[in-house]
Amino acid sequence: MSTALISIPKDQDPVLRVIPMPGDANMHGDVFGGWIMAQVDIGGSVLASRRAQGRVATVAVNSFTFKQPVFVGDLLSVYAKIIKTGTTSITVEVEVYAERKLLPDETVKVTEATLTYVATDDQRRSRPLPLIE
Ligand SMILES: CC(C)(COP(=O)(O)OP(=O)(O)OC[C@H]1O[C@@H](n2cnc3c(N)ncnc32)[C@H](O)[C@@H]1OP(=O)(O)O)[C@@H](O)C(=O)NCCC(=O)NCCS
Repeated sequence: MSTALISIPKDQDPVLRVIPMPGDANMHGDVFGGWIMAQVDIGGSVLASRRAQGRVATVAVNSFTFKQPVFVGDLLSVYAKIIKTGTTSITVEVEVYAERKLLPDETVKVTEATLTYVATDDQRRSRPLPLIE
């Protein structure tokens, strides 16, 4: 397992920053994959909701890779970018970086994922994305 140290992206703001707590981890202090998946889903939905100008639902997790473990006390930064839009759907690429014990010099990329969201109305039916200029 490679543990290449890198820096968090300087040209982009994270959509989410969060620190996992002991309740998010197993008895060894390793954070549950499901908890990380929830943060990725929330992070991706920030951009999707902005683009949809309203509510969205996650329709698919197209890919998801846990590249490195996440530990209690890591500072996670979630970055997202829209890579595709359709009539009702928005596909978002999400990357998560961990600063071990909040130390910027010990940053690793821990997760990469691609998710698709659908713009929905108040009846939870899909709706066309609004036009943007
Ligand atoms: C989201 C939902 C309303 C879409 O219903 P729908 O409009 O009948 O679905 P469609 O098959 O017409 O697909 C809508 C869009 O999603 C895309 N899509 C559907 N399944 C997809 C998949 N597996 N991967 C990628 N895109 C997918 C379609 O290509 C379409 O995109 P487009 O309009 O940009 O061309 C419905 O599937 C739903 O309610 N799902 C549950 C969502 C949810 O609760 N998520 C939380 C986790 S439980």
